[in-house]
Amino acid sequence: MTGTGRVASPEWWHSAVLYQVYIRSFADADGDGHGDLPGLRRHLDHLAWLGVDALWLSPVGPSPNADWGYDVADYCAVHPDYGTLDDLEALIAEAGQLGIRILLDLVPNHTSDKHPWFEDSRSSTLAAHRDFYVWADPGADGGPPNNWVSTFGGPGWTLDDASGQYYLHNFLPEQPDLNWWSQGVRDAFDEILRFWWDRGVAGFRIDVCHMIVKDAQLRDNPPATEDDPFVMQMFGQRPFYNSNQPEVHDVLRRWRTISAGYDPPRLLLGETNVEQLDTLASFYGSGTDELHLAFNFPFIEAPLKAKALWDVLERTEALLPDQAWPVWTGSNHDVSRLATRWAEGDPARVRVALLMLLTLRGTPVLYQGDEIGLVDGNITEDELRDPVGRRFWPYYAGRDPERTPMPWDAGRHGGFTDAGATPWLPMTDPRVANVADQRADPRSVLAMTRRVIAARRRSPDLQLGGYERLASPDEVWLFRRGESTVVALNLSGTPHDITLPGRGGSVVVGTDPARDASVPGDALSLGAWEGVVVAGV
Ligand code: NOJ
Repeated sequence: MTGTGRVASPEWWHSAVLYQVYIRSFADADGDGHGDLPGLRRHLDHLAWLGVDALWLSPVGPSPNADWGYDVADYCAVHPDYGTLDDLEALIAEAGQLGIRILLDLVPNHTSDKHPWFEDSRSSTLAAHRDFYVWADPGADGGPPNNWVSTFGGPGWTLDDASGQYYLHNFLPEQPDLNWWSQGVRDAFDEILRFWWDRGVAGFRIDVCHMIVKDAQLRDNPPATEDDPFVMQMFGQRPFYNSNQPEVHDVLRRWRTISAGYDPPRLLLGETNVEQLDTLASFYGSGTDELHLAFNFPFIEAPLKAKALWDVLERTEALLPDQAWPVWTGSNHDVSRLATRWAEGDPARVRVALLMLLTLRGTPVLYQGDEIGLVDGNITEDELRDPVGRRFWPYYAGRDPERTPMPWDAGRHGGFTDAGATPWLPMTDPRVANVADQRADPRSVLAMTRRVIAARRRSPDLQLGGYERLASPDEVWLFRRGESTVVALNLSGTPHDITLPGRGGSVVVGTDPARDASVPGDALSLGAWEGVVVAGV
């Protein structure tokens, strides 16, 4: 039995369903082809109807968009493309009335090269903000100071001709890394946190949160070996010194202390894109003093197979410190959508994958479009917007396929933007999956997602109960949640008969609405890719 530890004082996010809004692709109110805050406000009714508890908004701050908002030029303002600070405050208030909280995206690893801190920093070696960034003299051969490479390809350093020094960038040259050894940087971020939290922002998703502190001595990364994951082998090195130094935990503890000064505490949800689950667990600190939630990338990257997924889940649960709480997701703006990657476009597989995410012990995070089984878009070379796609085309199309706009109806541009406008990225065909059609169809993926969220909300077992896996065929994930709820997920195209641990339960929700309220006894015949939740067993 794993994951049975009770959370001593559950906060709102323990039982919440989170929903990621990629603002540029969500809804366009002013007809300029990209989404905005007024567009999001128009669709709050959809999110309230769906039953989600909080939205994580991808960056909404001013940005030259070299990396679509992840190159921040001002941490305490709103990009004019998306609206104004007033729009954001109105969103927080309106969403709050619907019981929906707003989380923003904090990008502490780097700024834009157009951020005033960097413009000052590069103006002189004596500038007030010089030490806000990682500057270093050339190496002995006159080249970069060490062998670090950028996550987006190419060297991790760019020479600044004026000073003759290099600056570090773990991503694009337009995204200089901040120097988290600088007290000034730490203090400045304390203020940024307070700026938003004082305005009612419920917390942050923290971009590449494992990466922010680098080796103070700037030592060379060790070479990758044949046993290392593919990405490390591709880069030729292990990111040993340019990422995840022990002092990152000091920063997280500092933010947790600030969060704890608010009522309710503000949520710290880290993008902890690490391969090792023990490293992932370390970002929870003691369980009560660092991140509240840390994204689990090994789970996202696992195939939609029962054993592979329960293996990641159970190893994670075993490693998490007492009081720590997992978070589960299948899609985001950086990885292929679950409807494509896990489900290969098959709505039956989408349904069971969503039922899984929404019934595991932990906080589920849906990505916009998951609820209708939206698949990745097709992008041609001249439509590419993502700098990573541009760099690696045709070997890798980058992240545009999972960023295509949200289809709200079957009309032109799916109701995302005006009929006469051009969406910033091409739409997937809105006739295949869209919100309006699925709202009208009780057998749709959307209708199921809503029923499952509602069932979860009614069930303390599903919200906060422990997890215990039960004996089942290898292709079926059968587990108990809490006192008396059992979830059966057939993650295969073959029907399976399973034995329930007791009689007398009834189906509270499943991938097939025809099952609802049925009483299965102690045996259940699951169809291909079918999932059910049985209560009272
Ligand atoms: C992770 C973000 O999710 C991704 O979109 C971005 O490009 C990198 N961090 C750099 O900020």
